[in-house]
Amino acid sequence: MDVIVRQDAESAAGLTARLIADALAATPRLVLGLATGRTMERVYERLARMHRDDGLDFSRAVTFNLDEYLGLPPEDENSYRHYMNTHLFDHVNIAMSNTHLPLGTAADPDAECARYERLIADAGGIDLQLVGIGRSGHIGFNEPLSALRSRTRATALAPETLRQNASMFGDDADRVPRRALTMGVGTILEARRILCLVTGREKAAILARAVEGPVSAMVSASALQMHPQCTCIVDEEAAACLGEREYYDWIFQNEPAWDAFR
Ligand code: GLP
Repeated sequence: MDVIVRQDAESAAGLTARLIADALAATPRLVLGLATGRTMERVYERLARMHRDDGLDFSRAVTFNLDEYLGLPPEDENSYRHYMNTHLFDHVNIAMSNTHLPLGTAADPDAECARYERLIADAGGIDLQLVGIGRSGHIGFNEPLSALRSRTRATALAPETLRQNASMFGDDADRVPRRALTMGVGTILEARRILCLVTGREKAAILARAVEGPVSAMVSASALQMHPQCTCIVDEEAAACLGEREYYDWIFQNEPAWDAFR
């Protein structure tokens, strides 16, 4: 894992967007794993701008989102399908038929999850997966206790997640769906490369547990430590509780892979 600390949320999102854009330019048929949440809004804003101003081409890209609320139809304004259309897909030249999210209203959620896994496999697996971290330590909606080898499935959300995401539901945690469909930790770890973007002071403690704590099903983001090509891009605020900050900076300064980004 690499940990790259940027000064603020804007420049952390900027680096993340640039890495995605570079991957897309190198591989136009990129299979891209996408995430939702406030943190990602800046990334999508930049990708949309790169499409508009620099012609960044999404025409052959294929996307798979991490998760969707169970019970919300795609047209619900709180669904992650709606989020993705509004923040990214409506602003770039992606073929909507190439964009995938689990269907929150599927009559048989287990069958839907199995179908989603098959779709990912049929696409050749995910080349680049973008993830954020929730305050519960989740990636996707893999809440504490999620098996490190879990697959796409329906799962209950943690109370902390309901509180965190309540702001999207008129600050009413009771309106947040209690369950979701999510790629499993095992599914996420199969992506060829992972970019993890974490910003803000409220994520500092959980980020330190994810990066420096033991690998544990209680903090599913800690499973990222097992991935051979994972880059955590964080801002100063999120880095506040990291114990080995100087070491991460030293690695960043000395790894040739990051020459073009310093
Ligand atoms: C949701 C998503 C996660 C995301 C998290 C962080 O819970 N399911 O994939 O990482 O939000 O949200 P935010 O960026 O708003 O803190």
